[in-house]
Amino acid sequence: MPSVLPIALGNPATAHDPVLVDEVMELLCLRPGAIVVDCTFGAGGHAARIAEEIGADGLYIAIDQDPDARPFFDIFSMQATCQTRFIRQNFATALDELAEEGVHADAILMDLGISSMQIDRPERGFSYARQAPLDMRMDPDQQVSATTLIAESSEADLARWFREYGEERYARQIARAIVRRRVIDPITTTGDLVEIVRSAVPAGALFAGGHPAKRVFQALRIVVNAELELLPPALASAFRVLAVDGALAVISFHSLEDRAVKRFMRARSQGCICPPDMPVCGCGRSPEARSLNGRAVMPSAPEMHRNPRSRSARLRAIVKLDAA
Ligand SMILES: C[S@@+](CC[C@H](N)C(=O)[O-])C[C@H]1O[C@@H](n2cnc3c(N)ncnc32)[C@H](O)[C@@H]1O
Repeated sequence: MPSVLPIALGNPATAHDPVLVDEVMELLCLRPGAIVVDCTFGAGGHAARIAEEIGADGLYIAIDQDPDARPFFDIFSMQATCQTRFIRQNFATALDELAEEGVHADAILMDLGISSMQIDRPERGFSYARQAPLDMRMDPDQQVSATTLIAESSEADLARWFREYGEERYARQIARAIVRRRVIDPITTTGDLVEIVRSAVPAGALFAGGHPAKRVFQALRIVVNAELELLPPALASAFRVLAVDGALAVISFHSLEDRAVKRFMRARSQGCICPPDMPVCGCGRSPEARSLNGRAVMPSAPEMHRNPRSRSARLRAIVKLDAA
């Protein structure tokens, strides 16, 4: 049973402030009757605008692996004029299933990462600012939580994750402190982990670069939810589901994610790969996609001011070409 009951879509007390909505709509360029797959429904912040554009003949397919998204979808679907469908699954699997069903989407949106509801609900264990069980699973049916990872992973793996996914300068020291502590006491709450991080970093670093546990929490969340692992296959599946002339738009929130998106979109948009000194093309390769924005689109200054969580957002989009 989902534990969030939204009073209304867009209720600031419970909902998520959607990011880059105008920019997404401009790039997706939706027409009435379009089929749209929103891989990250969340609180349906983008959904309302999409539904308006695609009208009564349009089909909006929402995906979210978090059961707490469902009540938001139910309200959205009661109010939406378009046809709607909800798939509670990881988007990598859901997109494969849609491809097998033969769905050809005119637009696909991925608004990656976690929603404000997930961060703001202490019991989900995503927030270093609240005392709660150390969980961090977007899909509560998944086996491995942050507590399991902290209890069972090697010191080397912990250090690598903190360094690579959190860009944490004191990754090694924090990993060592975790391994020393867990033989004495199990580490099961967000507060336990925050306290260990505080004890492991030099005093001078405690007040620089935001909350000292911010980067460790980000790294653990990425690993718990296999966020970087699932992204490349999910992008490939999304491209399979996309109709010719359909657009894929992706919003990412940290540089590793954005790099994977950029790499995927660049590879699909690349034509001939013959060396420049070849007189005629021998590879016969033509681009499968065209980029819709040269550089990543960032939120405007007013949006960043209104919604500080949008600050790190980067939007990239491609359109699928006939050659695919
Ligand atoms: C940033 S929020 C999306 C917010 C939404 N666009 C809105 O404006 O309300 C990301 C959502 O996607 C979901 N999510 C993230 N990764 C996912 C994945 N791999 N599969 C399915 N859902 C995912 C999360 O549970 C979360 O609800």
